[in-house]
Amino acid sequence: MNAVPSSIESVLVENRVFPPPPQAVQGARIGSMAAYQQLVDEARADPDAFWARLARENLAWTKPFSKTLDESKAPFFEWFADGELNASANCLDRHMGTPVEHKTAIVFESDDGKVTRLTYRELLTRVARFANALKAQGIQKGDRVVLYMPMGIEGVVAMQACARLGATHSVVFGGFSAKALQERIVDVGAVAVITANFQMRGGKELPLKAIVDEALAMGGCEAVKTVLVYERTASAWPRVEGRDKTFAEALQGVSDDCPPVPVGAEHPLFILYTSGSTGKPKGVQHATGGYLLWAKLTMDWTFDLRPEDVFWCTADIGWITGHSYVAYGPLAAGATQLVFEGVPTFPDAGRFWKMIQDHKVSIFYTAPTAIRSLIKAAEADGKVHPDRYDLTSLRLLGSVGEPINPEAWMWFHRHIGGERCPIVDTFWQTETGGHVITPLPGATPLVPGSCTLPLPGIDAAIVDETGNEMPNGAGGMLVIRRPWPSMIRTIWNDPERFKKSYFPPELGGSVYLAGDGAVRSADRGYFRITGRIDDVLNVSGHRMGTMEIESALVSKTDLVAEAAVVGRPDDMTGEAICAFVVLKRARPTGDEAKAIAKELRDWVAREIGPIAKPRDIRFGENLPKTRSGKIMRRLLRSIAKGEAITQDTSTLENPQILAQLGEAY
Ligand code: WT7
Repeated sequence: MNAVPSSIESVLVENRVFPPPPQAVQGARIGSMAAYQQLVDEARADPDAFWARLARENLAWTKPFSKTLDESKAPFFEWFADGELNASANCLDRHMGTPVEHKTAIVFESDDGKVTRLTYRELLTRVARFANALKAQGIQKGDRVVLYMPMGIEGVVAMQACARLGATHSVVFGGFSAKALQERIVDVGAVAVITANFQMRGGKELPLKAIVDEALAMGGCEAVKTVLVYERTASAWPRVEGRDKTFAEALQGVSDDCPPVPVGAEHPLFILYTSGSTGKPKGVQHATGGYLLWAKLTMDWTFDLRPEDVFWCTADIGWITGHSYVAYGPLAAGATQLVFEGVPTFPDAGRFWKMIQDHKVSIFYTAPTAIRSLIKAAEADGKVHPDRYDLTSLRLLGSVGEPINPEAWMWFHRHIGGERCPIVDTFWQTETGGHVITPLPGATPLVPGSCTLPLPGIDAAIVDETGNEMPNGAGGMLVIRRPWPSMIRTIWNDPERFKKSYFPPELGGSVYLAGDGAVRSADRGYFRITGRIDDVLNVSGHRMGTMEIESALVSKTDLVAEAAVVGRPDDMTGEAICAFVVLKRARPTGDEAKAIAKELRDWVAREIGPIAKPRDIRFGENLPKTRSGKIMRRLLRSIAKGEAITQDTSTLENPQILAQLGEAY
C-alpha cells in the first residue's frame, strides 16, 4: 500500500492513513465504506427490521420471536423477548451435519507446549457429557454456577455446559484472591463452583482449589453444594467429602447425549463481575439472544471470518473478551480457534510468535499491554524478535482493552502484520457484550490509535454533561443513544445502580453512558478514546476501581487510617496504581516505609488479587483536603505523575503534607 510508511520516523507524523489492503477487501462481507454505509443506513431507517433480520439469519431459534425490541421498561430494554433458543446449541449442535461438524473447533496449547485438538463433533460430546454431569449434581435452568478455572478446553466446556442447561455462569478470573472470589460467590448466589486443583502458568503450578476452599470457608456461601475439580496436574489437593468431586468422578457413566434446554432470549446467559466507581464490583448481566447474536455478528463483521481462518484471541475466559471471542463467538461462527493456557513470556518472549508460526494463525487478537511488553523484550533480546519467525499466515490483527499508542500500533503493523494485515482497534466494554466502535478490515481506512467508527446500528456520540453533541475535534463523554442487542441488561442484585451508572437522568434516562472520554477527528469523524472519566483505572487492560483498592487498603484496620488511590500514565501498563496512605501510627520513612509498603501490597493482593497491587505507595500524615474535608484528587494525580503543582492550593487545609507525599515507595 502506498500509504504504508517505510520508516519508523513516520510514527511521529500525524494522521497517517492505511487503506484496507486488496486481500482484505477481496471477498469481504463488508468490502467498502459504501457497503458499510449501506448497513448503517439500513439500521437507521428501521432498527427493528435490521436487528430482526440479523437475529433470524445468524441464530437458530427453537421458538421464533415476534417482537424485536421492547422499550416499555427502559432502560431495562428487552430484545427478542418471546423467542427461545439455546446458546450451546447455537455454538455446537447447529454445525452438525454441516462441513463444520468435523472441522477443528479448538487447538489447545498447554503451558508446557502440549497440543490437543478437538473437532466440533468432539466438543459437542464433551459439552453434552459435562452438562449431564452438572445435571446429575442437581444443577438446572436458572441456577448460578461460578467457574474459577485455568485457560483451557475444560473452562470452555464448562461454560458451554452451563449454557446448555440454562444455568447462568459467572466466571471469576483465576488471578483473583479468595476474598474476591467469595464476594462474587455470595453476590451471585452460586449453587456450585467449578475449578481445577492447580493452574499452570509460566512453568509454575498455582493453586486454585485451595483458594476455593478458603473462599467458601469465609461464610455466606452456604448455597454452594457442589465443587467440581478438574485435575489439571497430578499434585494432591485438599478434598471436602460430600461436597467435592473430580471431573472424572462426576463424568462417570454419564450419557453422551444431552438435549439443550431452550431458554427465553432474555434469560441470563452469564453474569460477569467488573469494577465500577464504588468499592463493590458490579455483576454485569447479559442475556442469551442479544449477546450471542453480537458475538456471532462481530466475528463476521470485525474479523470478517473466513472458513479457513485460524483465529486466536489471547484473552482469558475470566474476562469479557474471553467470553465473547473464545467461549462463544468463534464457536457460534464455526471457526477454528487456538486456545492458550500459558503466558506470553514462557519459556521466552517469543512464545506468541512461535505459536502463530506453528499453528498458522491467520487472525491474532491481543491487548496493547502484551504488545508493548513484547516490543521491549524483542528489543532487549534479538532471539525473541518476531522477525525471526514465519508470521506469513497472518491476515488480520486486532487490539483490545485499552488505547493502543501509535508507536505500538506501528510496530504491530510492521513486525507482526508484515505491513500487510489490517489492525482492528476494537473499542468495547464488559457492558457492551462485544465490539461497538471498530474498523472493518475490508472497508475502513485505518488511523493508528483510533478505533474509527461505530458498527452499523450503534448510535455512538460524544456529548457534554447535559447531553449536547460535541462538534468533531472537541472532547466529551462517549454515549450510545439507541439500545443494541448485546447491551448489559442489569447489574445483578442492583437494578438501581444499573440505572444510576449507565443511564443518568441528566442524559434523559435512556442514553447509555460508557464511562469513557472520547474525541472525534475533525476530518473523518473517527473516534479516539481518551480514557475513563470515572474512578476506574485501566492497568494492563485490566479494569480496576480506585475505590475498590481504597477499601482494600483501609480494611487493614490495624495499620491504615485513610487511603486514596489514583492512576498515573505508564508507558508499559497504560496506567499504574498509586496509593496515598495515612497510617494509624507515625508516618514511616526509609526502610520502615519500604517494609510497610510491601505489607500493604501483599494485603491488597490478598484482598483483591495481585493485579490490584499499587505500583507506588506514598505516606503522609494526612491527605491534601479542602476545608470541607474533600480529598483533592486532582492534586494527587499531579503528585503521582511527578508534575509540578500548578493547581490552586489556597483552599488546602494542610499544605505542608504535599512535601511528604513527594516520596514514593
Ligand atoms: C474499558 C472496558 C473491551 C473488552 C476488554 C475490556 C477500555 C477497551 C479499548 C480500545 C481504548 C479501550 C475503555 C473501556 N478500552 N477497549 N480499543 N481503545 N480503550 O473490557 O474490562 O470492561 O474495560 O476498557 O476504557 O471503558 P472492560
